[in-house]
Amino acid sequence: MNTCIKNISEIIGIVPQGILRKQGPEMNETGTLTNAYLLIDGDRIAAFGPMAEMPQADQYIDAEGGMLLPSFCDSHTHIVYAGTRDGEFLDKINGLSYEEIAARGGGILNSSDRLHECSEDELYRQSMIRVNEMIAKGTGAIEIKSGYGLNPEDEMKMLRVIKRIKQNCPALIMRTFLGAHAIGRKYTHEEYVRVVCEEMIPAVAREGLADFVDVFCDEGFFTVEDTDRILSAGKNFGLRPKIHANELAVSGGVQIGVKHNALSVDHLEKTTDAEIEALRNSVTMPTMLPGSSFFLGLPFGRAKEFIQAGLGVALASDYNPGSSPSGDMRFVLAMGCIRMRLTPVQALNATTLNSAYAMGISDQVGSITVGKRANLIITRPYHSLNMIPYHYQTPWIHQLILNGSIIQ
Ligand code: NIG
Ligand code: FE
Repeated sequence: MNTCIKNISEIIGIVPQGILRKQGPEMNETGTLTNAYLLIDGDRIAAFGPMAEMPQADQYIDAEGGMLLPSFCDSHTHIVYAGTRDGEFLDKINGLSYEEIAARGGGILNSSDRLHECSEDELYRQSMIRVNEMIAKGTGAIEIKSGYGLNPEDEMKMLRVIKRIKQNCPALIMRTFLGAHAIGRKYTHEEYVRVVCEEMIPAVAREGLADFVDVFCDEGFFTVEDTDRILSAGKNFGLRPKIHANELAVSGGVQIGVKHNALSVDHLEKTTDAEIEALRNSVTMPTMLPGSSFFLGLPFGRAKEFIQAGLGVALASDYNPGSSPSGDMRFVLAMGCIRMRLTPVQALNATTLNSAYAMGISDQVGSITVGKRANLIITRPYHSLNMIPYHYQTPWIHQLILNGSIIQ
């Protein structure tokens, strides 16, 4: 069964086969084709070309002059959590910082207490609401982290919920074990790092519940030495590293991530030129999370300087109950332009191909490429990509197609 999308004003985000990420000046480019069709065969992109050459198909979708983009890829989320942290939101409005809330036993530990009390079914139900909300805003691939369990049983509970989400939603889901998100309440720091390395990682690997291992390597959480141990333990069980680094301080997390060939180092609100140097010639994708900069009032990442230094940049939502309670990648792209001064093309590359790379799936999603999954957004009739971040609150998604099927 094939489907042809016709009357596309412009396809944006065309990338040749085999290009897995964009770096430096490549960030300024994306392939485009005006007045075009795109043919879907099953769940894959089969062909595209000028309208004048449109082939016969079993069925047609009329884009009615809208643009066609790849759906968003969100390489950093914590969407499996129980309840909310709106009380802490009020504390924040009244002047407490993220660190002060955490030091009072709130923050991640607050979410951990709520998750402990929540049944697996209820956790799945609450999390699926967020997954569906993200999909409705144009996201077709999502990385989801554990990290609110903070003991072996509850971390496994979270990962089993992530597995269920993966089995039941049309977005492509990648799974990250983030046991080292905070020190679980009943452990000392030293004990907890040992439990993560010697109990949790082997158990997670035995059940095949994660693709990646992550550590919150930052001031007041896990040290560079802890991170080194945890990433090494993860690697022994086939878990590729991703890192939370340099959100609260210049933590050394970028360097340790690069040393372990991390797929990505994420946050980077606080970086010096040494981090930029460390990332040069590495396989690691610097990933910035403008949603948490916005919500916590932190500096936005130095994305433009990273690109000028020849690096790639990915943008992700960091959807979580404490520092970024939104998974809206349209807004992430817009903040990339408005607050980080990325061009719309740079921000598109950062929220599609490069964020797919940051979860190891840019051979399957993240661009308009023959053979990739047909994960596509048809926009309202717009004349330029600039309209997307410019109209940052307009519901500009006209239709969303995931795996070749119309979702909305
Ligand atoms: O990426 N920084 C660490 N972890 C999350 C926040 C988690 C939370 O506050 O619940 C983040 O911002
Ligand atoms: Fe995070």
